[in-house]
Amino acid sequence: MSLMVWDNTLALGVQTMDGEHKELLALMNKIHDGFLAGAVVNDTVARLGAACARHFADEEAFMQSIAYPELNVHKLLHRQLLEKYAHHAGAIKAGGGKANEAFFSFLKLWLVSHIKGIDAKYAAHSRGAAR
Ligand code: FEO
Repeated sequence: MSLMVWDNTLALGVQTMDGEHKELLALMNKIHDGFLAGAVVNDTVARLGAACARHFADEEAFMQSIAYPELNVHKLLHRQLLEKYAHHAGAIKAGGGKANEAFFSFLKLWLVSHIKGIDAKYAAHSRGAAR
């Protein structure tokens, strides 16, 4: 069972970033599938962490390319998310590689609130800049 299913409310209209968000969601669902199957998920958790770091770097480069004025605040939020992610990943590793509900709550909150509330702002700026 998927943790979350992609729908258009998550779409920013910035094709590259939407594609990367979908990849992150697919990895989240892979970890969730492993969790439900009772599997050790350390490797997939590490893959998702690396994918998040790459996505944030790509997104920050995109925001820079459109002269997004809130780039620095957004960057700070990314750093904080990576720190929280590392904390959860460490706890999972220490727990024998089993994911937990706190981790999935964090992922869902990130996906929904960060994409819809924070990423959506640069997408709006991008649309305005393109006019
Ligand atoms: Fe798509 Fe700001 O992360």
